[in-house]
Parts: sequence; C-alpha cells; structure tokens
Amino acid sequence: MQFHGTAKTNKLGHLEIGGVDTVQLAEKYGTPLYIYDVALIRDRARAFKRTFENAGITAQVAYASKAFSTVAMVQLAAEEHLSLDVVSGGELYTALTAGFPMEKIHFHGNNKSYEELVMAIEHNIGCIVVDNFYELEMLKEVCKEKNKTTKILLRVTPGIEAHTHDYILTGQEDSKFGFDLQNGQADEAMRLALEANLMEVLGLHCHIGSQIFETTGFILATQKIFEKLQQWKKDMSFESTVLNLGGGFGIRYTDEDDPIPAAQYVEEIIAEVKKQASLYSMKLPEIWIEPGRSLVGDAGTTLYRIGSSKDIPNVRKYVAIDGGMSDNIRPALYQAKYEAVLANRVLDQPEETVSIAGKCCESGDMLIWDLPLPKSGSQDVLAVFCTGAYGYSMSNNYNRIPRPAVVFLEDSKETLIVRRETYEDMVKLDLPLKEKVKS
Ligand SMILES: Cc1ncc(COP(=O)(O)O)c(C=O)c1O
Repeated sequence: MQFHGTAKTNKLGHLEIGGVDTVQLAEKYGTPLYIYDVALIRDRARAFKRTFENAGITAQVAYASKAFSTVAMVQLAAEEHLSLDVVSGGELYTALTAGFPMEKIHFHGNNKSYEELVMAIEHNIGCIVVDNFYELEMLKEVCKEKNKTTKILLRVTPGIEAHTHDYILTGQEDSKFGFDLQNGQADEAMRLALEANLMEVLGLHCHIGSQIFETTGFILATQKIFEKLQQWKKDMSFESTVLNLGGGFGIRYTDEDDPIPAAQYVEEIIAEVKKQASLYSMKLPEIWIEPGRSLVGDAGTTLYRIGSSKDIPNVRKYVAIDGGMSDNIRPALYQAKYEAVLANRVLDQPEETVSIAGKCCESGDMLIWDLPLPKSGSQDVLAVFCTGAYGYSMSNNYNRIPRPAVVFLEDSKETLIVRRETYEDMVKLDLPLKEKVKS
C-alpha cells in the first residue's frame, strides 16, 4: 500500500504521521480520532499556487472549506495565502472567527438566505457567487438597504458533467446549481446583473463535478464559457475579468484511483484559457479555482479501536470499529472506498479478509468491504486513510454518537484543534418536558 505525505512505519512497527506515533495519539485522545498531516496540506496548497505563479498568471486558489471547515483549518488556509470558498452563514462565521481576510472569501450556495447575504455584505466579503434569479433580486435589495455595492460572479452550468474518467455533454444541464448557459437563463442573469449598478460583475463561475482525474471536462467548460463571453462582449460590451473553474480535482483513495498532479490540471487549464482568450481577442481573465478534497483529503486519517467481530462461515467476517457513518458517511452515501491498516502492527502480513462495520444501527453502516488484514482484536487500532475531506464536515450525531476530536500533526508536534464531543454536548440543546425525575 502506498502511504501519503509524511506517513510511515516507525521503529515500533507503528504508523507515524507528521513525526507522531498514531498509536500513542489513539491512547491519549481516544478513538475515533481524526488526524491531519499538516505538511501535506501545505504541499498540496503550494503545488496549486506555484503552478499559477510560474506561469505568471493572476490567480486565486480558494480552499473549498465545505471539505473540512474548522477555525484552525481556515487559519491554515490563511497561512498558505489561499482564498476561501464558503457556502453558508456557518462556514462564513467560522472564517470570521478564524480572522480570515474577508476580501478573500467567495460565498456560494443555491439558496442563500436574506440573513446570510446581509452577513456577507456587512462584512464586505470578496465576492458573492450568484446562483439564481431569486438570489439576484434579494442581493439587490440587501445592497440597497445597506447602501453598499458588492462584487459578484455568476455561476453557470455549461452542460458538462465530469466525474472521474468520464465526462458527459448534457446540453442543458439538469442541475440545481447555476444559470444554464444554453437556454438563455445565463444571458438574462447577466443582463439583470449589469443593469443593477449595485454589483460589479467580475465574471463567471462553474463547477463541473468531483473526483475528476483528467482535464477534458475543464477544457470543454472553458470553451463553452468563452463562446458565451464573446457573444456578451458583442451584445453587452461585457468582458470577464475573472473565470472561476471550481474544484473537483481527484485524489487517490485506493489503488483503483490514479489522479494527475495538481500542476497538470492547472497547466492545462491555463493553456486553454490563454488559447480561448487569444482566439476571441479578449483580455486574459484571472483564473480562480476552488479545490477542497485535493487540499485536505489524503492528509486526513481516522483512527478507530477495533471491537466485536462476527464470523459467518463461508460468507464473511465482520469486524466492528467504534465509529462509522456518524464520522464518515461517504461509504453509505456514495459507496466511497478506502484503504486501512492496523496502526499498531503495520508490518504484520494480512491473514484474512474482513469487512469493517460501523457501530451505528443501520445495516448500510459499513466502512470498508473485503479488507485484507492481520487477525485483529480489541488491542488494535485501525487507521483508515484519506478521510480528510467530507469526513468531519459531514459527521453527525446519529445514534447520539459524539463527534470525534481532531488533531493536527506537524514537525513531530500534535495540536488538538477540535475537542471530542461529550454526552453533555449531545443533550445541550434539548429542552426537557419535566424536571429530571428524582430516584
Ligand atoms: C462550487 C464548488 N466548488 C468547489 C467544490 C470542491 O470540490 P472538491 O472538494 O471535489 O475539490 C465543490 C464541491 O462540491 C463545489 O460545489
């Protein structure tokens, strides 16, 4: 198995990440525990940024904080000079709490509330990615009421759906997001946005999918967008100063995944934007991207303690861990696949094939099917790799299971960045019907 970042086996045969023994972490902080290889997050961020810098392109690399949003993570994004994509008042509040520069925040979402828009405008955030006509109207009202202007991008759906190695040309896209580029909606939205002199239209945004392993989808989207831009240049004298091509860059979860390096995505995107701009004699726009998973996904690992097992002869052996769909819903939600090792016995050879079951009251709560593993028991710690994106951020309290703690690891140092939820936390919002019955 290929380890990511600073992960390695130490002298004790334990999994070590960021110079810290993960078995000791499991003992100290309990399990389940999310741990992050901070150096790897920095590497990933720098790879995207460096490629733009080397090409001399004005760019913004915005961390899509939906992948993993906590105050410390947002501060790390700021340290790496990233911009930030938020999709809710909660993510924006996290950024505010973290002291993230407001002018580098882009606000997404297909149903932003009035209150969320007020919050964004009051804090002078960098740009609002307008998704639909309802929002466009509401944003005009908010700007008038607050006597402020704002920068916007219009989110468009270019009729390309990209997923891993496939992309589909859908013509008119059946998506809940954005203005359709083909059916006239995007034209109408641009006209309305330009008329409303409370908004500075920077340009267009599109996001074509996730876990994408090649660049064809981005190239096609760029072409479709430029076709439209040249029409708008003629019809509305509009020239885009920004083109945001979203996120979706793939990562390696298992041996089945074969992503290309960050630099290759960026270089090919830059080449196409340059080509299109020159084809239509347009100024080269700034290029913005929004990686989420590819910045934090493979930097995250979850540690679990192994508990019960159930051997069904000639069928399968289930091995249960002390977490599951409450801390990682991706396998149940979309059959996501993961690799794992015993953190305390990395070098031991696999002796059996087991399926890793979560502890939630749901048959679908299976973390990994058919994993080769040494014979294991309650003395063992299972490390599941690549859980850094959409793990903690999609975690939940199903079965009233408290959310795990999160620890950052770097230069042989550990930093607790989210404390473990307690049972008190589980009931802290509950209001009783009666005083507790005294026994
Ligand atoms: C608009 C937008 N930008 C960026 C992202 C980040 O995608 P990924 O984590 O796959 O890079 C998403 C993910 O849903 C998205 O919807």
